[in-house]
Amino acid sequence: MKEFIRNIKGTKDILPEESSIWIYLENYIHQFFAKFGYKKILLPSFENTDLFLRSIGKETDIVSKEMYSWIDQGNNNLTLRPELTASVVRAYIQHQLGKQQKNHKLYYIGSSYRRERPQKGRFRQFKQFGIEAFGSEFPEQDAEIISIAYLLYDSLGIKNLNLRINSIGSRESRLEYIKKLKEYFSKYENELTSTSKQRLIANPLRILDTKVDFEIELVKTAPKIIDYISDDDKQHFEEMMIILDNLNIPYIIDDYLVRGLDYYSRTVFEIQTNSLGSQNALCGGGRYDYLVEELGGNHTPAIGFAAGLERLILAMDNTNHQFICNPDIYIISMGDKALKKSFKIANDLRITKDLIVINDTLKRSLKAQIKDANRLKARYSIIIGEEEINKNIVSIKNMETGNQEELSIDKIIDYF
Ligand code: HAM
Repeated sequence: MKEFIRNIKGTKDILPEESSIWIYLENYIHQFFAKFGYKKILLPSFENTDLFLRSIGKETDIVSKEMYSWIDQGNNNLTLRPELTASVVRAYIQHQLGKQQKNHKLYYIGSSYRRERPQKGRFRQFKQFGIEAFGSEFPEQDAEIISIAYLLYDSLGIKNLNLRINSIGSRESRLEYIKKLKEYFSKYENELTSTSKQRLIANPLRILDTKVDFEIELVKTAPKIIDYISDDDKQHFEEMMIILDNLNIPYIIDDYLVRGLDYYSRTVFEIQTNSLGSQNALCGGGRYDYLVEELGGNHTPAIGFAAGLERLILAMDNTNHQFICNPDIYIISMGDKALKKSFKIANDLRITKDLIVINDTLKRSLKAQIKDANRLKARYSIIIGEEEINKNIVSIKNMETGNQEELSIDKIIDYF
């Protein structure tokens, strides 16, 4: 026997019994974002590596150790996208969307790739859905984004949602905080991990993302960013909270939430739920008022969030039964002539009546086809044999009630 090649660690095959919830949720997300006026953007799965270095930041976990990057045959340095925000911003600048109108509200659903250690809720290829709003600097825009994220989970019945928010201030006001943070962590420099030592020099904010127990303890008594941000930043944050209060969206202020990507300013947030284990973040996002400029565009305030579809599915904790689309009709055909006819009837029903219709292509016995129709939970079965063809009739059976009747073949379409 030939050697069998398995899928790559951290990737996942979604088999038919599981795919129905994916289809259901992707449709739900399309419709949900559309209700707020957001329009879909589709982007390439790989980009120039520099795009991610310049946006996400060199000191982040993502860029320093998780990207799938390679040099292609044309000597281009390419990377499978680890997230979509950088690509959305690139497209926004490249197609000069800012010139068309003052604000753009975009959403996406697409795969992302990070070489993280796989575990429950953490994959190397995962699907992210998210939104990005360009053009508004106002706290109302922040509140809109946060409320969309919260309402999406709430409307799907996800329990124990924990919305954490913080403000990391504007770029200028953060400088003083970074100085204080450097002073604070320097006192423990000898005990820090080599990654944090490096971050202490390059970007001390990133130490706040540490996953090391000892460093997590240190973070608990570190200076708080909220004490260093400007009055304008504070006012922005407070106004946003008033809007969230008005919308009855419950939140917690998390003084040390900075998020693991470098492009943020002012508002940052995450929604967690306790049913996911250690990978408890359902989604995360924030403002990135300087990113468009840093990637070569005009100054454009922006804010967005992204969420993992796998984690949403885990949190829904449902059997997939309710999402499976059972067939409307199963056509049981006996003999080649009947099978030919049933193909034609099936297509007419699918096209004119929008029904899910199954043809048996295994040429099985009557009994086996009835069994299959029951297994698939078809609502109706249509039985066609040689005799029926000769008389130009079929038998139609309502599989729920067991009622069966004969019908002229020409009347089938009208019957449904
Ligand atoms: P992020 O926090 O890196 O932010 O990822 C957002 C969400 O993607 C996470 O909350 C999680 O649900 C999911 N996720 C991340 N990594 C994995 C993984 N390895 N396996 C499964 N799910 C994962 C961003 O990506 C930013 N682009 C969010 C954003 C949009 N900020 C502004 N706009």
